[in-house]
Amino acid sequence: MQNRSSFLIVANRLPVDRVGDAGWRRSPGGLVTAIAPVMQRRDGAWLGWHGAPDERLEPFSDDGMSLIPVPLSSAEVESYYEGFSNATLWPLYHDVVATPIYSRASWEVYRAVNERFALAAAEAAAEGAVVWVQDYQLQLVPAMLRKLRPDLRIGFFLHIPFPPAELFSQLPWRREILEGLLGADLVGFQRPGGASNFIRLCRRLLGLQHQRHEIYLPDRVVRAEAFPISVDFGELDTLVREPHIIARAKEIRTELGEPEFVLLGVDRLDYTKGIGQRLKAFGELLADGAIKPGEAVFVQIATPSRERVEEYRRLRNDIELRVGRINGEQGLLGHQPVQYLHQSYQRDELAALYLAADVMVVTPLRDGMNLVAKEYIACRHDLRGALVLSEFAGAADELRHAFLVNPYDVDGLKRAMLAGMRSTPHELARRMRTLRRRVATYNVDRWAGDFLRALERPEPEAPDAG
Ligand code: ADP
Ligand code: G6P
Repeated sequence: MQNRSSFLIVANRLPVDRVGDAGWRRSPGGLVTAIAPVMQRRDGAWLGWHGAPDERLEPFSDDGMSLIPVPLSSAEVESYYEGFSNATLWPLYHDVVATPIYSRASWEVYRAVNERFALAAAEAAAEGAVVWVQDYQLQLVPAMLRKLRPDLRIGFFLHIPFPPAELFSQLPWRREILEGLLGADLVGFQRPGGASNFIRLCRRLLGLQHQRHEIYLPDRVVRAEAFPISVDFGELDTLVREPHIIARAKEIRTELGEPEFVLLGVDRLDYTKGIGQRLKAFGELLADGAIKPGEAVFVQIATPSRERVEEYRRLRNDIELRVGRINGEQGLLGHQPVQYLHQSYQRDELAALYLAADVMVVTPLRDGMNLVAKEYIACRHDLRGALVLSEFAGAADELRHAFLVNPYDVDGLKRAMLAGMRSTPHELARRMRTLRRRVATYNVDRWAGDFLRALERPEPEAPDAG
């Protein structure tokens, strides 16, 4: 039997993703970006799926982390991961920007897979261990795990938005999800609004009393609070000062034809990210003549994501059509205004891109936090560069000195992109200095430390019912 851990992360994904028969690559997305450095600095284990269906693997180590793979069959990937997690919960929690699919069969598989994760966590955790469950794929795990192992201290963190009652109430299994989360001692959200939506729903649907951050169950108190997630500021700040990154950033601008302005988008190819909106705005700026031919290049890096889910297929076609149109209509011989790359990149190359970009364009229609925005800031010790940021990203709460935009307002987006390009170096430095102070202080260690300290605080007493 494996050694039991006193600190356990439970997430749908492991930090590495199986490709082909024997290869591995880093898993996509913000959850892995945030949890990996936290785990590298602590003893403990990370339990999750390794990204390939129908494959059982033994526990192994990677990059200083102990990893415990949880298997999923092809049918489970289809119903639990692509279905309930990414065609039901993902759109529902992101303001219904796509229509959620409510399937009873997928719900049953979601429940069964959550049970498997709970059993695996109960096996792997030492007596009295701290178990930190992550994200929307595993919302039933806290209650299932508590039943199996009442000795554990259980935390849960939701990386995506938690919707208001008007939307959440659509979910046929809304009570079960709330009860699942209430198995934790501490439920963390990205924004205070998510925590208060959750608390209000517990009162409305389960009739539970609450006071400030505390929800009173008959035998326990559960706390629900916001802990805005962040990036490893120090690591990125050090990385971009290295000569090979600086040289690569220069080389990227040369490869792009030395335009006056480089605009950059870096996202998973997801319909919540507002990629179409930003391309539309950029295309109009070219068509209007606000940007002169050859003056600017928009680099859009889009990591392939959830490619078998219908909405994602449709999005890919839409984006590729839009890119083709802009390049066809606004391009010159030897100059394509939009450089679109449907690929995943290494950290070093991303850091060089951040350093090469004059304007970082982050325009989600809804986003739990958005770590790309914070990564860009962490990379700009030169105090140059402008961040155009959607007010619908969690990051907008903290990054008030970005060029904030409503991504649905195309004219507003155009104005913000132009402001990013035309502001004086003095104005850009003023904004960037304030942004960097925030991200340097509220970095990923601070996030994990704040959450884990709150989780380990003794449980508050319920007020007297009488
Ligand atoms: P999400 O978690 O929804 O994908 P975030 O912006 O919070 O969005 O996090 C995305 C993470 O994935 C960031 O750490 C970012 O650097 C990384 N990432 C995004 N696109 C790529 C890409 N094309 N190649 C490599 N990493 C990427
Ligand atoms: C977001 C979610 C994560 C997820 C990531 C990548 O960050 O909050 O839970 O891991 O996207 O998505 P994927 O479906 O590839 O795991």
